Amino acid sequence: MKVTVVGAGAVGATCADNIARKELCNELVLLDIKEGLAEGKAQDMMQTATLLGFDTKITGSTNDYAKTAGSDVVVITSGIPRKPGMTREELIGTNAGIVKTVCENILKHSPNAIIIVISNPMDTMTYLALTSTGLPKNRIIGMGGTLDSSRFKYQLSQHLGCSPADLNAVVVGGHGDTTMIPLIRLATWNSAPVTNFLSAEQQEKIVKDTMVGGATLTALIGTSAWYAPGAAGAALVESIVRDEKKLFTCCVSLNGEYGQKDICLGVPVIIGKNGWEKILDFKLNDTEQAAFNKSADAVRSMNDVLKSL
Ligand code: 2OP
Repeated sequence: MKVTVVGAGAVGATCADNIARKELCNELVLLDIKEGLAEGKAQDMMQTATLLGFDTKITGSTNDYAKTAGSDVVVITSGIPRKPGMTREELIGTNAGIVKTVCENILKHSPNAIIIVISNPMDTMTYLALTSTGLPKNRIIGMGGTLDSSRFKYQLSQHLGCSPADLNAVVVGGHGDTTMIPLIRLATWNSAPVTNFLSAEQQEKIVKDTMVGGATLTALIGTSAWYAPGAAGAALVESIVRDEKKLFTCCVSLNGEYGQKDICLGVPVIIGKNGWEKILDFKLNDTEQAAFNKSADAVRSMNDVLKSL
């Protein structure tokens, strides 16, 4: 099994680190455009191998895609991250060109790869990866909802005073501060609805804090977060390479599901060896569906910007 992570910044390097620690593949390539960065980080990670006890072979590459040849899964993290006060959407002009070029280069050497998109604005970058490559839709997966759902469980656990591992909760819709929809009605604590244990004010705060989870961290750290985004990417890689068929919310191509077409948006999917294998219908109520449609409108207008680039 071979995995490539494109972009050796904080998110890419963290994702690679998680992949190596879990020994999800025997060969792992970290690639970056900046001279020496990927080689350096790959070497640094390799020097943890005997300390951490993994034997995944990590190689770094400065923009030499030949080294990525034959990858089964490719995670794209390239692009500029947001700075405090910026939205993910403001990154589109720079990141669209980068993501398109990365996809072309990857497919030259790994025509059968499953592609996981992390670069922002993630919903639009996933749509761009799908439309520019023409790959079968199941092989293009946007990571956003996986991260947002994990952040949602964290927020819930803080209010419930419980282990996040005991929670089931998903965020659907776009991966934007105003477009994501934490489905609190459907969230459970070991099968009991979390709403049984939370006041209306607490529920509102949890939803709000989840939605601005990324922006809150960007303000604190001074740049975009990386531990959870990197781990979310690695969790998807794990479900693919081990064919786990786990349920994650991912940004995938919709063809009538959830009432939407010609768009990539976050919905619950099964992730296995074929990429995203199935979309699950969580039967949104009218309010949730209206929020989903609004989210789709916002993402669609962002996708329209691609035409003018
Ligand atoms: C975040 O929400 C990187 O978009 C990512 O932190």
